[in-house]
Amino acid sequence: MTVLGADVWPPAPIRTERLVLRESEARDRAAVIELDASPEVGAYLGGPRSRAELERMVPEVPGRRPGFFVVELDGAAIGTVQLDPHAPEVPGSSHRREAGETELGYLFLPDAWGHGYAGEACAAALDWFSGVLPGEPVVLYTQTANVRSMRLAAKLGFTELERFEAYGAEQWFGVRSSAR
Ligand SMILES: CC(C)(COP(=O)(O)OP(=O)(O)OC[C@H]1O[C@@H](n2cnc3c(N)ncnc32)[C@H](O)[C@@H]1OP(=O)(O)O)[C@@H](O)C(=O)NCCC(=O)NCCS
Repeated sequence: MTVLGADVWPPAPIRTERLVLRESEARDRAAVIELDASPEVGAYLGGPRSRAELERMVPEVPGRRPGFFVVELDGAAIGTVQLDPHAPEVPGSSHRREAGETELGYLFLPDAWGHGYAGEACAAALDWFSGVLPGEPVVLYTQTANVRSMRLAAKLGFTELERFEAYGAEQWFGVRSSAR
C-alpha cells in the first residue's frame, strides 16, 4: 500500500535550512489562489484560472489532503509541493498507472523562483516520503518547454522514462527511485 494514511499524515512541520513544509491551513487560501491565477505559474500548466472562479471554488482550507505541503519562508507561503496518487492515464502516454504510484508536483510564486527554494522544498518532501514509504518510486510529468521544471526534475534525481505529445505540447515523464 502506498497510500499516505492517517498514520503518517499530517507530519510535524518539516524544517529545512530556509523553509518550513507543513499541511495547509485557512491562512494559505490567498497564496493558493495567487498560484492558480498567476499567468507565469500557469504558463506550462494549461494557463491561469480566473481569480473570480478561484475565489468561488477554493475551499476555506485549500489543499486539505495527504501529501499536500504548503512551503513557508519567514512565515509566508511561497508555494506548494504535492505528492498525489498518479492520475490513472495521461492522454498520449504509454505509461499505465501502477497501483498506488505517487506523483510529485510543485508550484511556487514567481517572486520565489531563482533562489533554490523549490529544490530545497521538494528534496525535503521526497526525503519525508521515502522515510514513510521506503522503496516507493515517485513519478513526475512536466512539459519539456518548462525549462525551470526540467532542471529541477534532473536536480532531484528524476530520470526520463518517456517523452510524448499531449495537450499540444511535448511532455516529459520521469521517475525517481527511493534512495533508501
Ligand atoms: C518549476 C519551478 C518550481 C522552478 O523554480 P526554481 O526557483 O527555478 O527552482 P529551484 O528551486 O530549483 O531554483 C533553481 C534556481 O535557483 C538558483 N539558486 C539561487 N540560490 C540557490 C541556492 N541556495 N540553492 C540552489 N539554487 C539556488 C539557481 O541558480 C537556479 O536559478 P537559475 O534557474 O536562474 O539558474 C517554478 O518555476 C514554478 O513554480 N513554475 C510554475 C509551476 C510549474 O510549472 N510546475 C511544474 C509542474 S510539475
